[in-house]
Amino acid sequence: MVQTLAPIDRAKFAAARRAADMVEDGMKLGLGTGSTAAWLVRCLAERVRQEGLRLTCVPTSARTAALAREEGLKVVALDDAGWLDLTIDGADEFDADLVLIKGGGGALLQEKIVATASDRMMVITDATKEVKALGAFPLPVEVIPFGWQASRMLIEELLGSLDVMGTKASLRMNGTRPFMTDEGNHILDLALGRIGNPRQLSLALNQVPGVVENGLFIDICDAVIIGHADGRVILRDAIAGTEQEDRIHFEETDNIFREL
Ligand code: 5RP
Repeated sequence: MVQTLAPIDRAKFAAARRAADMVEDGMKLGLGTGSTAAWLVRCLAERVRQEGLRLTCVPTSARTAALAREEGLKVVALDDAGWLDLTIDGADEFDADLVLIKGGGGALLQEKIVATASDRMMVITDATKEVKALGAFPLPVEVIPFGWQASRMLIEELLGSLDVMGTKASLRMNGTRPFMTDEGNHILDLALGRIGNPRQLSLALNQVPGVVENGLFIDICDAVIIGHADGRVILRDAIAGTEQEDRIHFEETDNIFREL
């Protein structure tokens, strides 16, 4: 089965598998959202089944919660878990300082709350998400539905005075209707092209009335695991200042792919 996976999925799986191997018995874990995070959930569930690992998991979306429950993981709300040991999540872009753009899956609000309620946050990704300058991926901004068009106008006006290349903010759609987040909010995707000063941009965006949160994760991510289709994984740890290369052997993990 694994041989038939697209190279990008093999890369995402390799990163997720490496991260799952770092999880320790008894941990309270934040589970991210997206296709890479879904691999993580499956890999963790396999460790729980095979090794009897005891984990308490806090998902960052209804989607991840449903998958985690389906896979037999113990799922609790963040307020019941308290503080978390580690959150593992995907990203849409990351730079050399491990500043991230997140929210491609629309879960940025819970993702940011869960990540910042954790001792450590680790990103799992394929190599295509690494960028020199952030901003090619449209920056998601969560806004409340009330007056969202006014919020959009204010954001576009604000962007004109900041170090970005584009100023267009588009309402994310789900078919013919506006996309709704798990909190019942909308997402504006900002076509910025290049973000010169992520910190300034993040602070400015969160000052706009109606903005709930933006998808820039600054000083939150501690480490990134970059997976490759051939099973190579690079673990870059910003805290330890180290980079380590390993290899994931796909054939050992057949169980994971059985139901795909
Ligand atoms: C969801 C996210 C995801 O982590 C991000 O979109 C990456 O997704 P994928 O792993 O499917 O590439 O931020 O809100």
